[in-house]
Amino acid sequence: MRLPRWIAHRGGGALAPENTLAGIRLAAAMGFRAVEFDVMLSGDGTPVLIHDETLERTTNGHGRVCATDDRSLFALDAGQGERIPTFGDAARLCCELGLLTNVEIKPATGHERETAETVARLAADIWRETPDQVLISSFVPEALDIALELAPTLPRGLLFERVPPAWAGLFRSLRATTLHCHADHLDDQVLREAAALGVPIVCYTVNEEALARRLIERGVSAMFTDRLDRFTEGAI
Ligand code: G3P
Ligand code: MG
Repeated sequence: MRLPRWIAHRGGGALAPENTLAGIRLAAAMGFRAVEFDVMLSGDGTPVLIHDETLERTTNGHGRVCATDDRSLFALDAGQGERIPTFGDAARLCCELGLLTNVEIKPATGHERETAETVARLAADIWRETPDQVLISSFVPEALDIALELAPTLPRGLLFERVPPAWAGLFRSLRATTLHCHADHLDDQVLREAAALGVPIVCYTVNEEALARRLIERGVSAMFTDRLDRFTEGAI
């Protein structure tokens, strides 16, 4: 897959309310060719864009996302008057804008299977004709296993904070395409193994130019950033 060097993190990074349609539009307007967002199920089982299991940090609501019904959830302010988007609306917007979309399946604890099934089925439908425009990732290997089963033609990214020594076996069994990890926890051994296998590494979250340059020198293929003002495509 052709991976742009820069991926706008949580939609519009730090320049817009996170995981909102306004953020996605901003990323495209600023020249980004790829965005990442997080998807979780509402209490009604609707896949929506949100990062935390609870509503407090990013909205004016309270309580757990997975225990909030759609009527209440979609009435909330997710920042600057933005609503929490459905995954379907966000995905269709990315398609319209021509953005490569990294869909991070972010299940609430205990909802891993249903979240992955719902997201994989919808993603398979939305990107049926354009599978090279999406990348499904998750910290939860079970979610990627389900994506492999239900949306086999869509590429998968295996996501860790720190890549474990036995990553390659899991990577192979999930038939993953990319390996994602925290920029501060990328060791040389993993870099060597990934290079030998031809596996692109994608690091989060890179907001400083010095760090970006170092990672590129070390062979990292792409990076997630919150700083859309610093890292428009082609900047580094
Ligand atoms: O998918 C990369 C990155 O988004 C993972 O961390 O916590 O921002 O979802 P987080
Ligand atoms: Mg994420």
